[in-house]
Amino acid sequence: MTALEVVRADITTLALDAIVNAANKSLLGGSGVDGAIHRAAGPGLLAECRLLGGCDTGDAKLTGGHGLPAGHVIHTVGPIWYGGDADEPELLAACYRRSLEVAAGAGLRSLAFPAISTGVYGYPKAAAARIAVTTVRDTLPAVDGIERVVFCCFSDEDRRLYEALLDT
Ligand code: AR6
Repeated sequence: MTALEVVRADITTLALDAIVNAANKSLLGGSGVDGAIHRAAGPGLLAECRLLGGCDTGDAKLTGGHGLPAGHVIHTVGPIWYGGDADEPELLAACYRRSLEVAAGAGLRSLAFPAISTGVYGYPKAAAARIAVTTVRDTLPAVDGIERVVFCCFSDEDRRLYEALLDT
């Protein structure tokens, strides 16, 4: 049985097997959580990302954690919110599903997700949190070895949304 947890934290401080980065298709850094992860990891992370050739929206790619307390970073690319009729829900769900598949494929046991797409990319927070929790719950039975999934919130508003969802 996998433990699902909610914390309010800076994801760069979490010492898990992996943290997930809400990146862009270039995988070459940006603002928000992406910028924080690259700053905390140091230049080795960008050097490794340069070798990956970018990432499609909804897909995920693995790197080392470099200077982070986490062992690895799973870089996923969330959808930009265009109003909801541009496959945003399916693409956001794919981020969570692919990140878990990549983690399990690498034998990782614990990982933390930020609230993908809900910052610069503008996805409404409550709808995004529902997709995050539902997709993780639906995907876990199909992947092996994941013991702990942490939803890492950057605000109390997000933390309350996730806590309410995990109570149901
Ligand atoms: N720890 C945890 N969560 C954080 C942190 C942190 N240190 N910093 C921000 N958040 P965003 P997106 C939360 O904008 O919407 C970048 O430029 C933040 O409060 O980081 O997927 C990329 O390169 C929000 O809830 O990612 C892309 O171009 C969540 O992380 C683009 O932004 C996601 O906000 C991706 O946009």
